[in-house]
Amino acid sequence: MPKDHSDPIADLRRNTSVPFEQARAMPTSVYTSEDFVEAELKHVFGKDWYCVGRADALSKTGDYVTAELAGQPIVVLRDADHQLRAMSNVCLHRMSTLLQGRGNAKTIVCPYHAWTYNLDGNLRGAPAMSQNDAFCKDHYRLPQVRCEEWLGWVFVCLDPDAEPVAVQLAEVADMIAAYDMTNYSESFYEEHVWDTNWKVLAENFMESYHLPVCHAGTIGGLSKLEDMVCPPGRPAFNYHTILKDESLRIAMAHPTKNDRLKGEERKTTYLLALYPSLMITLTPGYFWYISLHPKGPGQVHIRFGGGMSNDFAEDADISENFTQLKTLLDEVNVEDRGCTEKVFNGLCSDAATPGHLSHLERPNYDFAQYLMGKIAAGLGE
Ligand code: FES
Ligand SMILES: [Fe+2]
Repeated sequence: MPKDHSDPIADLRRNTSVPFEQARAMPTSVYTSEDFVEAELKHVFGKDWYCVGRADALSKTGDYVTAELAGQPIVVLRDADHQLRAMSNVCLHRMSTLLQGRGNAKTIVCPYHAWTYNLDGNLRGAPAMSQNDAFCKDHYRLPQVRCEEWLGWVFVCLDPDAEPVAVQLAEVADMIAAYDMTNYSESFYEEHVWDTNWKVLAENFMESYHLPVCHAGTIGGLSKLEDMVCPPGRPAFNYHTILKDESLRIAMAHPTKNDRLKGEERKTTYLLALYPSLMITLTPGYFWYISLHPKGPGQVHIRFGGGMSNDFAEDADISENFTQLKTLLDEVNVEDRGCTEKVFNGLCSDAATPGHLSHLERPNYDFAQYLMGKIAAGLGE
């Protein structure tokens, strides 16, 4: 019999009202319902910080990246004063979007009639507008959006009242201080769309329970279930750690340049899920991340980037190290794509019933609590 998906918020409320020791995976309706996506865009993505990538990718004046956050086109750029700035990416004439993707621009020229904006959002000029008496270019400025940099990450937020990133994530900064997350350089960045719900991919990242099986062809043998630690989550993030086998040399602390990490830390990987949708794998040798945004219930937009720790920058084999890293990540991604698209396919079926969670899925439980909390707060509960 087809399931009743009429009230996904009520389904999630029931699901999140049990203690972790009895918890099940989230109900299917929160993955498949259009109404639930609407609630997420309004109460989660419209209220919280969304990561558009690394600051070192926007290092030169005019470097920009665009995003569509909760339905709002936004551009983030490095302005003429070398400050990061976020603003509306919608022209103030007949409302075309302005810039696309990632790139560098001296000015922002609308692709429709060439109204042209400075990097601070002020209108610089507009062709053939001298006969409209009411038009004054000084009255036009692209609306500004909150933008913050934290440990090399660039975040934007549509809610003027959201707590600053550094306040929400202060505990993360302390926890991984010795990794010095600013000391990593992004050497690749891609955008993808996968056919799965954004939460399926987020949750896939939050648990390493799937590593031995889903990733049997790559890293599965290098990570043991007994070496995974999943502490309870915090209000703005969850995390878990795994030990990587020393044979994955690029994941280890640099033997001579890194004396910041001691003992087991030198081979410890942090998997950080910074709510709602920035997932960072931080190893002593390399990092990679995905920043997710829903595209309806059945698709996720993915920003995928990463690179090596700067400790490796002067090594003779840096380019081999990077090639090895990118090859590995691409192979791992193919496996994750297969698993997460299969999950979405399965949970759309009438037979889908959420099962109980392992102790290795503690972060998934905490993520569900976060989502329910944001939606309840948005509804004024
Ligand atoms: S819509 Fe941008 S210049 Fe006309
Ligand atoms: Fe995976």
